[in-house]
Amino acid sequence: MTKLVAVQGDITAQTTDAIVNAANNAMRGGGGVDGAIHRAGGPEILRDCIARFPDGLATGDAGWTTAGRLSARWVVHTVGPNHGAGQRDRALLESSYRRSLEVADELGARSVAFPLISAGVYAWPRREAITAAVDTIAATPTAVEEVRLVAYDEAAHREIASVLRMSTGVRILQGVRDLHRRGYHTLRAWTGVAPSGLFWRAVLTDAAHPDDPAIHYTSGNEAQFAAGTVDAMSTPREAAELIRGALPRLEVTNDAPDYAAWFAGLLAAVEPEHALPVAFADYFDDSEGWEIGWGSGLRYPKPPR
Ligand code: APR
Repeated sequence: MTKLVAVQGDITAQTTDAIVNAANNAMRGGGGVDGAIHRAGGPEILRDCIARFPDGLATGDAGWTTAGRLSARWVVHTVGPNHGAGQRDRALLESSYRRSLEVADELGARSVAFPLISAGVYAWPRREAITAAVDTIAATPTAVEEVRLVAYDEAAHREIASVLRMSTGVRILQGVRDLHRRGYHTLRAWTGVAPSGLFWRAVLTDAAHPDDPAIHYTSGNEAQFAAGTVDAMSTPREAAELIRGALPRLEVTNDAPDYAAWFAGLLAAVEPEHALPVAFADYFDDSEGWEIGWGSGLRYPKPPR
């Protein structure tokens, strides 16, 4: 089981087996993380970059070199997409994390420290850079035991912690979508904000058995969900199995494709920023549909009957 931790500090000070460099296609050094790693690790790293990457490295790909004078054993270089230059395909950013973990596995690294790839000079919106990192690390099978997400400043560190906290809600909703895809169309989800305004809530029910006890989740309970735990590193399938365990009469019916499609659309709007949806709240007028991200003012049409 891979542990994901958020730390604040300098990537070059991380004592992990491998540290990840936010490089560029040329692979000959640069500013930001790239500059810091080359400066702290010394000229051996550049010599290795030239020897091992004579033609550079493609965006979304990763490769390793010596770590030179750094305490890490290897530097895993990856090139994230340059949002500022118009490279806005999130799949390329996700590929940077996935390929870096694959390379770490080839090396036998047991701990890896990532900076927020593309979130600096490459100007990727930070919250989306964080959710891409967290969701890809959670979804990538790897033998790496500890992954650190290193924030350079306090604001980034706070935002990573917030994404990790809200990831339980996102994984629960992804579990609902997983069950819909498997034909459990009577599964319904309502989400909203507690009267205190402090906690996000989800209520999951089986529309075929409305008198069966519903599953209630509140973010006040953090990762505790349906007699188990769901956190940022859980998979949608794990959340789905906890839901099925708590709604024992839930069956495959395939009888509400319109609801399943509506829900999949809701989740597609939620996932990029982990913006939890709100269908009910004291402040809320649901005539214009659900809100994507509590207090965002962004609306999504109400579910079909
Ligand atoms: N340690 C940890 N994080 C850092 C450090 C550091 N020493 N320096 C910068 N960061 C943070 C930035 O604040 C940002 O959140 O790492 C993230 C990535 O920033 P960049 O290093 O600018 O990387 P990126 O946005 O991927 O741009 C890559 O910048 O440095 C050049 O040669 C590099 O051309 C490439 C481009």
